[in-house]
Parts: sequence; structure tokens; C-alpha cells
Amino acid sequence: MPPSLNTHPVHLHTPRLHLRPMTDADWDTLLRWNQDPDVLYYADGADVTAYTLDQIKRIYGGISQAAFCFIAELDGQPIAEAWLQAMNLSRIIEAHPDSDCRRIDLSIGEKQYWNKGLGTEIICALVDFGFAEEKADFIFACDIADYNPRSRAAFTKVGFHVVAHIPQPPGGKARAICDMRIAKTEWAAGANPSP
Ligand SMILES: CC(C)(COP(=O)(O)OP(=O)(O)OC[C@H]1O[C@@H](n2cnc3c(N)ncnc32)[C@H](O)[C@@H]1OP(=O)(O)O)[C@@H](O)C(=O)NCCC(=O)NCCS
Repeated sequence: MPPSLNTHPVHLHTPRLHLRPMTDADWDTLLRWNQDPDVLYYADGADVTAYTLDQIKRIYGGISQAAFCFIAELDGQPIAEAWLQAMNLSRIIEAHPDSDCRRIDLSIGEKQYWNKGLGTEIICALVDFGFAEEKADFIFACDIADYNPRSRAAFTKVGFHVVAHIPQPPGGKARAICDMRIAKTEWAAGANPSP
């Protein structure tokens, strides 16, 4: 049995969006986004064009055990998924042994809303929550592929910078991926532009 979705009581607000807890009522929406090859091309490093309901229940159930998972709503309609998760990559944990490191992942499943500044708003809200409420030291965006400059640009606008550039073996979608990071001190110093 996959772990059930672990939910939470946190709501966040951006200028245009309401980020509410992801719940078991969201499986249909999450399945639709996870069966859209255009979304998955960018959202997933694997060469996959659709996931099954069982697969996504396993994936989100697992992630939610150590993450605040949100659905972002625009005018009451779900348009994106996003989470702030405890760091799960050993390459980053080992490089920051005494720090609380988190990661942000997000995907705007309704692709007509790409490139309208909404991803930047979601990242700002999660970074603010991570530093102000969760007292994280560093927040990362991990495994951003070289074919996804839009994602890299959105994190850059919020104040993240590239800390690792990792070449990938031939045959996969990406020739290289990168990790980006923002420190609590950088956010406090005003690295955060208004979206
Ligand atoms: C990545 C994602 C979350 C970004 O959110 P968004 O709302 O589309 O992005 P924003 O509009 O906030 O910012 C995107 C920036 O990238 C820029 N951009 C877009 N395409 C670009 C390209 N090909 N090269 C360089 N910059 C690009 C935009 O101009 C914009 O910058 P600007 O505001 O300075 O003009 C969203 O596009 C998405 O969900 N994509 C599919 C899934 C995905 O890629 N998830 C992330 C996996 S790491």
C-alpha cells in the first residue's frame, strides 16, 4: 500500500493565487496534469508521457510525508501544484551538514498559464513560508534541466542562483541539470523582487 497523502493546515496567498493544502480530493486534477505530455516533458526528468493513478498516489503520498504540498488556485480553479519539502538529495545534505535545507518543486498543470508570472508568485510564497515560518537556512530548486530555461528564469527572478551544474549521461532528455539555491540571509537582504 502506498502511503496516504499527508496533508497540513497551511494556506498561502500571493497577489493572484491561493495556495491551499493538497488533499485526496485532488487526485482527478493531479492525474490530468500527470497525463499531459507537454507538462510532464518539463515537470519530470524521466522520459515519461503519462502516469497512472496508482503511480501518482505512490509519488505524492511519498513526497507529502516530508513536505507541505499545495494546490494553487486562480479565481477558485486549480492551476498548479507545488511543495516545500525537506531536502532529500544526499549531494546537498552532505554539503550542508549543519543547515536546515528544503527544496521547492512546482508545476503549473494548466499550461495556458505558463509565462504569466504565476510561477514566480508561487516560488516567492513558498520561499517566504520556508524562511519566515519554517526557519529554513537554505532553499533549493533541484535538477532543473538545460531544456527548461523558463524554470531557471523564474527561480532567478526570486533571487536563486546556480550552485551546481551536473552533466547527465547521454541518452536522456537533459545534457545537464543544475541546482539553484537561496539563503535566508539573501532573502532577508532583499533578494526577493516583487513578482
Ligand atoms: C516552470 C514554471 C513553474 C515557471 O512558471 P511561469 O509562471 O511559467 O514563469 P514566470 O512567468 O513566473 O517566469 C518565467 C520567466 O522565464 C522567461 N522565459 C520563458 N521562456 C524562456 C526561455 N525559453 N528562455 C529564457 N527565459 C524564458 C520568461 O520571460 C519569464 O521571465 P520574465 O518575467 O523576466 O520575462 C512553469 O512554466 C511550469 O510549470 N512549467 C511546466 C513544469 C515545469 O517546468 N516545472 C519546473 C520543473 S524544474
